[in-house]
Amino acid sequence: MYKKFILELSAATLSDHASRGASNERATVSNTPALNLTFGTTSHADADNQKATVTITRRSALIALASITTTPMLVDADAQTTALTPTPSDSEGPFYPTDWSGDIDGDLITVNGKRYNDGTSLLLTGRVLSATGSPIAGARIEIWQVDATGKYRHPNDDGEGPFKRGFQGFGRVESDGSGAYRFRTIKPIAYRGRPAHIHIRVAASGFRELTTQVYFAGENKERSGFGGFSKERDKLTVSAAPLRGANAEAKLTATFDLVLLKA
Ligand SMILES: [Fe+2]
Repeated sequence: MYKKFILELSAATLSDHASRGASNERATVSNTPALNLTFGTTSHADADNQKATVTITRRSALIALASITTTPMLVDADAQTTALTPTPSDSEGPFYPTDWSGDIDGDLITVNGKRYNDGTSLLLTGRVLSATGSPIAGARIEIWQVDATGKYRHPNDDGEGPFKRGFQGFGRVESDGSGAYRFRTIKPIAYRGRPAHIHIRVAASGFRELTTQVYFAGENKERSGFGGFSKERDKLTVSAAPLRGANAEAKLTATFDLVLLKA
């Protein structure tokens, strides 16, 4: 377990450098061309003169605006209409799945037709969206996480142990026409140093790939004090609510939208 903790922290450190780079990139992208209009002032004491000066200045400004909005090179339409905050990235960690063969669908608690009954089942749903709020269809969403004992299905953690105990460990789905995705899994448990989290990677044509993690309300703080993971924790935190009904697919449900930046 200690070895796993060190591995994850090391990966987080590397990822932190990467995400800082990404953040800088984002900052650059979101820097829209600034229009600096300096309104002239007048020393005329005459109120009518002053009024005339202002009128002319506003007119000049409108002309300047019109010339800019008809110049495509200076307009970043996406930035101008941004409605959603892009989902922050977070550490990939050292346990990204190595073998995507076999049963890798979105139902992580049914493996080759057999039900995994440990832990608390969770329906994780959401939409993949652009920063302007448009749904992204056909995005590839992958998740990976620990089983009910805190083990990843990964050769460097517990080998195939969790898989043999019946938990799929990871899954991959595509968003539908409305950008929606869904996984049935278990609510992960915290393990030494880390709060409960699910790793997510999203790829969509025309958008930047996103690797992040989703955390759970009330238990989203790092337990180690190490600072290698995302500090934008509030934007990566969901509430897991009971899913009622005799035929409910899972005991809990949580919604996490994934907002991507254009490539
Ligand atoms: Fe992890």
